Amino acid sequence: MLQVKNLAASYGAAPVLRGVSLDVEPGSVTAVIGVNGSGKSTLLRAISGLVPKVAGEVILDGVSVARKKPHEMARLGVAHCLEGRRVFPFMTVLENLEIAGYGSKAPIEEGLHKAFELFPILKQRKKIAAGKLSGGELQMLCVAQTLVKDCRYILIDELTAGVSPLVSQSMGQVVKELSRSGIGILWAEQNAEVALEWSDFCFLLQLGEVVLHGKSEDLMADDLVKREYLGIS
Ligand SMILES: Nc1ncnc2c1ncn2[C@@H]1O[C@H](COP(=O)(O)OP(=O)(O)OP(=O)(O)O)[C@@H](O)[C@H]1O
Ligand SMILES: [Mg+2]
Repeated sequence: MLQVKNLAASYGAAPVLRGVSLDVEPGSVTAVIGVNGSGKSTLLRAISGLVPKVAGEVILDGVSVARKKPHEMARLGVAHCLEGRRVFPFMTVLENLEIAGYGSKAPIEEGLHKAFELFPILKQRKKIAAGKLSGGELQMLCVAQTLVKDCRYILIDELTAGVSPLVSQSMGQVVKELSRSGIGILWAEQNAEVALEWSDFCFLLQLGEVVLHGKSEDLMADDLVKREYLGIS
């Protein structure tokens, strides 16, 4: 299990995360929702070591990993799918996947098989330059890049930004499917509706604090969530 306990982080003097605690269980999807600037990306970055922690703990299978650097976290099986769909635009889909899998303990063929099974469209487009993919396909490529790394946990930062409602739904479905293979997923998402629909557990962040958490189906029925995040009065 990946556990976060009382995590605090800041950029310079400004505190951003205040005492965030959550668990990510293997084989499940845990979503983090909240408005712009509530601290979702910072939370993921603090877990993977990209942002220094001011206080708190990150525990992986009972062992503290709070002081690990990003590449060490990746080696321990915690992959971070960063916001902004970073790929090499002039290289093909296949080349981008091969680079992502470089240094992985598992053979690259295994990772590619997993990635193409989950995203058949990427197999069809494997010889195309990544820069020519649609927004949704690019997002798939970013998630697929974590799969070729042989990870046990994936931190996904924004899955549906700028993609159509239909593609958002299918991306949510894929994340759920991915978790069924035993991977634990922590998914920061602005689109509360999609996040709640496809996650098992959900944490609501406001100004860097968890204000509500529980089973996603319960949060979906919560008055505050319905009013403020789902637009249902
Ligand atoms: N590199 C940075 N330097 C200084 N402040 C930052 C930096 N990145 C984020 N912040 C600030 O930290 C707070 C949390 O930002 P963060 O990006 O974690 O929010 P978010 O919930 O991911 O937002 P979004 O939904 O827009 O992605 C915001 O007030 C933001 O302005
Ligand atoms: Mg963000």
